[in-house]
Amino acid sequence: MTSRFSEQETESYYDSEDAIYRSFWDEDGSVHWGVFDEETGDDFLKACANLDNMMVSKGQITSSDRVLDLGCGNGTTAIWLSGDRNCHVTGVDLSGVRVQNAQSARAKLDQDAQSKLAFEKASATDLPFDDGSFTRLWSQAVIYHVPDKEKVLEEAYRVLEEGGIMVFDDLIKPKPNISEAAQKFVYDRLLYDTPFNFESYQDALKKQGFKILEAHDLSSHLRNSYLCLADRTPKFDAEHAEHYDYLTNSYRETARAVDNKELGWGLYICQK
Ligand SMILES: C[S@@+](CC[C@H](N)C(=O)[O-])C[C@H]1O[C@@H](n2cnc3c(N)ncnc32)[C@H](O)[C@@H]1O
Repeated sequence: MTSRFSEQETESYYDSEDAIYRSFWDEDGSVHWGVFDEETGDDFLKACANLDNMMVSKGQITSSDRVLDLGCGNGTTAIWLSGDRNCHVTGVDLSGVRVQNAQSARAKLDQDAQSKLAFEKASATDLPFDDGSFTRLWSQAVIYHVPDKEKVLEEAYRVLEEGGIMVFDDLIKPKPNISEAAQKFVYDRLLYDTPFNFESYQDALKKQGFKILEAHDLSSHLRNSYLCLADRTPKFDAEHAEHYDYLTNSYRETARAVDNKELGWGLYICQK
């Protein structure tokens, strides 16, 4: 399955947009969404941390695990995960700039922490690892970008050891026909398309050989995340005013697309 976007376009996008994202999404460099509950209230970063903790627990990640963070971005979550679980984490990402940032962040840690982390530039469609190299595969907000999603699932399955668990979230398309606004402000803006809705994603995972342990439709949390992000974009930045206005509007349109079932968000936990 392919889409109209190339990996090269995605790479250039993520190479160039880091400073903008850090200015309002998360200054530590993570770029994913959050799961809201009574404890997080409407605190976006707490909700993002809530998703991280949920994935650790559902992915059953312990100190003996060798984890691959697929699309690790700036390495923020990989570094947190390795410290939190005392496990080894390898992060790969398509963006050379972000991998460089991750390597610089790793270099600031003590020797013990550094020995449990590795970062490398690679595409999720062509992983530079032997079969069965990892016990866990972790991925947040990545696969939607990849034109050939089935190839990513095939590679994920290949590099996991027998019995290994993949825990990841991804955008989904609840219905095939979407409005012009959703196309423009969501799909085109995110360099994204997908053939998968919540259920057919699970069929694709099963086709690769995965057993589904859990699947959760988190679409309402995606909507809340984008409404928080619309509020978080700087409102008085003269230099980037036009871009921030565009993002604020796009985030509100993205929340609307979720309401209209033109966009959704799934969390999947599956086992090889
Ligand atoms: C929304 S960001 C999420 C980054 C990170 N997982 C996080 O939570 O902060 C999406 C990331 O996916 C990466 N990406 C997109 N296509 C990729 C591919 N084919 N292989 C590896 N990484 C990819 C981008 O470079 C970007 O860093």
